[in-house]
Amino acid sequence: MKQFSITIAGSGSTRTPGVFISLMDKKATFPVKRVVMYDIDSDRQEKIAALVRIVLKDANSDIELITTTDPKTAFTGADFVFTQIRAGGMECREWDEKIPLRYGCVGQETCGAGGFAYGMRSIRPMIELVELVEKYAPAAWILNYSNPASIVAEALRHAKPNSRVINICDMPVGIEKAVGQAIGIDRKYFEPHYFGINHFGWYTHIYHTETGEDLLPMIRKKIIGEGIAPLKDPVTEKSWFETYGMLTKMMELFPEYLPNTYMQYYLFPDKVVEKSDPNWTRTNEIAVGREQRIWEAAATAMERGTFEGLNIQFSAHGEFIIDLAESLALNKKTRFLLITENNGAIPNLPADAMVEIPARLGVNGLEPVARGPIPMFYQGLIMAQLCAEKLLVEAYFENSYQKALQAFTLNKTVPSAAAAKLILDDLIVANKGFWPELR
Ligand code: G6P
Ligand code: MN
Repeated sequence: MKQFSITIAGSGSTRTPGVFISLMDKKATFPVKRVVMYDIDSDRQEKIAALVRIVLKDANSDIELITTTDPKTAFTGADFVFTQIRAGGMECREWDEKIPLRYGCVGQETCGAGGFAYGMRSIRPMIELVELVEKYAPAAWILNYSNPASIVAEALRHAKPNSRVINICDMPVGIEKAVGQAIGIDRKYFEPHYFGINHFGWYTHIYHTETGEDLLPMIRKKIIGEGIAPLKDPVTEKSWFETYGMLTKMMELFPEYLPNTYMQYYLFPDKVVEKSDPNWTRTNEIAVGREQRIWEAAATAMERGTFEGLNIQFSAHGEFIIDLAESLALNKKTRFLLITENNGAIPNLPADAMVEIPARLGVNGLEPVARGPIPMFYQGLIMAQLCAEKLLVEAYFENSYQKALQAFTLNKTVPSAAAAKLILDDLIVANKGFWPELR
């Protein structure tokens, strides 16, 4: 059986050890001979690599591990490239969250004005990465986690229409795990039916794969009646409890479908802002939370030479991407929720919209599952966000201030054109060198 080779671009992320843990879990069915860790920040990369070596040792793995900052070494020979870059790092993320809050608007890394700022930063490095992969590993599949996934997907559709990129997001998996935990049924029995664009969508049904029962009525009852908690994890922060709390509020008003948790920013921007501390956002919470705990666990693991007995958990990130790579590699045609060009799957959304829908994944890429038209309320919400994102991408490629301003104004988290202009102008200053010049 073929032994595969994977390259992780942006491997200095604290999520990377989780990718290796999932790889170890799958080693019987998905044989990998080599993983290359590629990052532009070699310090961070080496720290994470030290952890990865312990993960490999604990599993008695003979995978060859290479770390590099050189793209040719990174991509030559790769069958799969996982991209998970954070353009501008955590410093820029902090501005994305804090600048909109100055003007009373949602401050979030992928939604709202902050997400648009991040989008403007991510497009160029993502196009460059895709070009490097095409040069050194033209047959490789790229599984792209880089955020904001919706905007990145739209930009790549426009600039690199023939590239072998599959845009992905692990939030649905996270939601399904939390829901599964609440109703006592493992998500491996879920067949989710879902529509939307990334970080902006709804579950219409979740069928039990063995009994065929639609579990959504039970889930709705649970969410409206008692609410559900985020996934049990020693590192669950306060903001995740608030986020899951908002699911109840959303379903009380619109009980028909189960929304993605990210819908809170668009349906209740005012409530989200009320709960936000403009001086202490998610970036700060993570810095003293997850990041800190991972570095502490790392130090202990280094001392002991093993992870055994250390209670650290990684989110759905690693598990999801390894499941995807396995389905691609072995032509399993497993059904996942993925971001892909609509092409009629949802007839009342544009054909060229990058939608998030069920699709089967095999050696030749993805086969979307068509679903039929969506009700007008959802269509209207999605169209506004989709047009805002498309305008932002056009603003990027045309260096257009006017289109950027239209994009910010159309974003539902920004209540007025005046606020849109103030936020945009501050973000232009904060992102100097990362954004194209807008004229
Ligand atoms: C989920 C989303 C990702 C997002 C992440 C943020 O996994 O799907 O798109 O990047 O949450 O997590 P963080 O803990 O960094 O706020
Ligand atoms: Mn996501």
